[in-house]
Amino acid sequence: MRHLMSPLDFTTEELDKLFDLANDIEKNPEHFAHACDGKILATCFYEPSTRTRLSFESAMTRLGGRVIGFADAASSSASKGESVSDTIRIISCYADICAMRHPKEGAPMVASEKSTIPVINAGDGGHQHPTQTLTDLLTIRSLKGRLGNFTIGLCGDLKFGRTVHSLINALVRYDNIRFVFISPEELKVPDYITDMLKDRKIPYEEVIRLEQVMPELDMLYMTRVQKERFFNEEDYVRLKDFYILNASKMALAKQDMLVLHPLPRVNEISVEVDDDPRAVYFKQAQYGVYVRMALILTLLEKER
Ligand code: CP
Repeated sequence: MRHLMSPLDFTTEELDKLFDLANDIEKNPEHFAHACDGKILATCFYEPSTRTRLSFESAMTRLGGRVIGFADAASSSASKGESVSDTIRIISCYADICAMRHPKEGAPMVASEKSTIPVINAGDGGHQHPTQTLTDLLTIRSLKGRLGNFTIGLCGDLKFGRTVHSLINALVRYDNIRFVFISPEELKVPDYITDMLKDRKIPYEEVIRLEQVMPELDMLYMTRVQKERFFNEEDYVRLKDFYILNASKMALAKQDMLVLHPLPRVNEISVEVDDDPRAVYFKQAQYGVYVRMALILTLLEKER
């Protein structure tokens, strides 16, 4: 039984195979249209989502399988007090594979321990978002042609942003990557991450102003300041518009820099940037379907 809790659950060699499969699916979708005939994916989402849930559902449907699930804890028996452990035992009777999002860190891991089907962590609190990381890595590899030898800026909420934490953990396994962390003081990347970078002698820099570092970036990973992670509305209001990427900031960047964003965005990227060919965040969402198709196939194949 194989689950996906963290991007580190796959070796870099396994990730290469997964991304090759995703690129194959992108080029020849018809070859995979019946690959999951008769299989059922359960999407158990205890927290809101548009991209992750619907891209999983699209992925399974495009593979010929079917989907069951819930999009909201309030419409599931969690609202009556059922535990995640009991729920997954039941879901194991109904489906062949499960994608779970939960506001509590570690909840998908608890589920995987009781599950008899593969469980995919679709985001747990501020902890990990491994399938977003697979999406990000596939986007970079497909559009840059490599995973390694670049400077990446991560901007916005680096404290609570689970996509950022997952991506950094995944990227440190590749060669010659330099990180530039761009955030206000209150939303700095956690110490456990900078400690890990120091231990591994991976270069990083922490700055507050985006303009200062734009010219040196090969990639800029923008993130939203997440209202749902703040305890205090006043802090959120003060920080929510700290960064706004616009055309004048883009003018400072390299001609082949890529702008990624896990989405949803609020104000942090001005819509005028959307037409810039370096803005690839909508393409990134499309790669999310291919990589989730590849992941479902891979985990079910292991299962078989
Ligand atoms: N990127 C992402 O996780 O988006 P959703 O919250 O809409 O799933």
